[in-house]
Amino acid sequence: MVLQDCICGYVLCEVTFAGRVCEFCTVLVFRAYDKVKPVMPGGICVDQIRIRGGIPLCGEVAVQGSKNAALPLMAAALLHPGRTVLRNCPHILDVESMGAALRGLGCRVFWKAGALVIDAEDAAGTSVSALYGTRFRASVLLMGSLLGRFGAAYLPYPGGCTIGQRPIDLHLQVFEKMGAEVLPQAEGITVRTKRGRLQGCVAELGFPSVGATENAVLGAVLARGTTVLKNCAAEPEITELCRFLNRKGAKIEGIGGKVLKITGVERLCDSEHELMPDRIVAGTYLLAAAGTRGQVTIRRTVPEQLNALTAILREGQVRVETSGDSIRLDASRACPEAVRLCTSPYPGFPTDLQSQIMVYLLTAKGESHIRENIFESRFQVAAELGKMGADIRIAGDCARITGPAALTGAEAEARELRGGAALVAAGLLAKGETVIRGSRFIKRGYEDICRDMACLGADVCEIGKIAALPAQPG
Ligand code: UD1
Repeated sequence: MVLQDCICGYVLCEVTFAGRVCEFCTVLVFRAYDKVKPVMPGGICVDQIRIRGGIPLCGEVAVQGSKNAALPLMAAALLHPGRTVLRNCPHILDVESMGAALRGLGCRVFWKAGALVIDAEDAAGTSVSALYGTRFRASVLLMGSLLGRFGAAYLPYPGGCTIGQRPIDLHLQVFEKMGAEVLPQAEGITVRTKRGRLQGCVAELGFPSVGATENAVLGAVLARGTTVLKNCAAEPEITELCRFLNRKGAKIEGIGGKVLKITGVERLCDSEHELMPDRIVAGTYLLAAAGTRGQVTIRRTVPEQLNALTAILREGQVRVETSGDSIRLDASRACPEAVRLCTSPYPGFPTDLQSQIMVYLLTAKGESHIRENIFESRFQVAAELGKMGADIRIAGDCARITGPAALTGAEAEARELRGGAALVAAGLLAKGETVIRGSRFIKRGYEDICRDMACLGADVCEIGKIAALPAQPG
């Protein structure tokens, strides 16, 4: 019997044969034994969060680097047969998964002095293993990089949060326009160029998809000729990707706008980059603080990226002031009334904060309406909130939230990343004790939500079950 640490990096797993599923993150164990690093003595699987709610959040916390910027930048590192260093990269499961997928393609990926180093010099494979590819949605971004660098890619159908169907037709349409051949198979898709390199083109996305825009950019950077992409998504993470690539030697114009012009170059160069802060994590913490009627300062943010959220908070007499990279929130005199909002592409209200604002709106007087315009199955958390006493009715793409609700602590199940974070926010404002199972979903995108909430005075901790592991051999 051998003990290994799982890809999730959080727990020891007992493996008696290759491919044992980790109890903690439910993914396959694959890393070498020399990396074993138990985080808790005795091999405790930590997959629950316990919260004793009712305390207004108070204090100061800094926000981690952005998940949705880190993942495309990691994929972009594959384009260059050399070194990329990402500072302020978040220590989250999705980054671990992308790192594992890159290692599977022959890259060296490791942490050094807090920065993530990706050395793609020896990358050779063009086939992303189902071990990693099905685990997180952003694995699809490896398609653009593999096509750009090697002219071919095989990807298992991507996984990720269970928040909708999430097809990749828009990604494939652009690659076809760039001269690639798409060969769908039972478990995945092969895409290959006819003459070894993608060809620049003019393409218009049917919808400003974040992933399709990023993938198209990744494919176009080393393509022959010029690519003009219309109706692009303009999320800040795309701006970050384009700026990063330009510093590596790419030629991308129109950054931040709906039309991107990419002139293909022969090669990129080594680079070091500091990742932007995570606006969704910042928004989650602001909403948790507003819901508990707290007074907090959230540091390391880009305040204007959160304008759609802070406008709603201010409507409810929550004081929000910004200074440099800090947002100061005072909700002690807040009296929010019901609102109507819909999710939409940036700069609209982000779908990734929809579950969390649902919790805040439970504290508002009257019936709020949320229309979800991006993902069709993103109201799953409503049923879990119901266990805590929330009155939320779902009809199609609309949620009606009746407040103010007196939430009480309960046992709830996180089933996806942002819904899980919303349950933490609900636990913080509920009376009594809440236990949230499935914290591994939250760890896909939040480095340590318990650490950060405790920093703001919350009574919150991770609790674990004993995994009954034998002592480490040797
Ligand atoms: C990214 C973010 C995710 C965020 C979302 C919307 C990452 C890693 N994830 O996801 O956190 O919630 O943007 O801001 O950055 N669609 C198609 N065909 C396609 C592509 C997308 O129909 O080929 C649809 C999707 O099903 C969805 C909508 O377009 O309904 C938006 O998806 P998209 O913007 O692509 O989101 P992701 O890139 O998957």
